[in-house]
Amino acid sequence: MQGAGHNTLSILFVCLGNICRSPMAEGAFRAAAMRNELNCSADSAGTASYHIGSPPDPRAIAAASAYGVDIAGQTARQLERDDFFRYTHIFAMDEANLVGIRAKAPRDGTAKIAMLNDALEERVRKSIADPYYGDEELFAKVWEEIAAAAEALAARFASEGLSARL
Ligand code: 4NP
Repeated sequence: MQGAGHNTLSILFVCLGNICRSPMAEGAFRAAAMRNELNCSADSAGTASYHIGSPPDPRAIAAASAYGVDIAGQTARQLERDDFFRYTHIFAMDEANLVGIRAKAPRDGTAKIAMLNDALEERVRKSIADPYYGDEELFAKVWEEIAAAAEALAARFASEGLSARL
């Protein structure tokens, strides 16, 4: 538990390219945090460098937009050393991301590292599939999966008074 009155919860969502899944996770979580009256900062990053500086994939923007969430203003960046100290939690979208995150983690990094789906009891350790080579229908499906986990995560943090169990 953080000190009373202090809110230091900060979440980083990580996928491979930071143009599809983690931007959707950031957007879905921001919306869920508002609904749950959770004061928390959120950001996203990729383990790879391919798309640094790019906006989210248009299909990810459209999937979020269908649920009233605007992610168009996000800019892709790569996961960096400081992230392991600046964020309290880092959530991977899939198993490969988790391996990539752990490979970059400094020995003394303080962020807790887990999978986004760990927020849902029935989906613990399950990967969120990479939709990059899929169609819009897959993006819509991935959005729904991400949004359900983001909602569960925000609700859990809110119910725990920001003390994180994950
Ligand atoms: P993301 O999806 O990791 O969810 O952003 C991908 C985006 C780009 C690539 C792979 C996955 N890519 O190979 O360029």
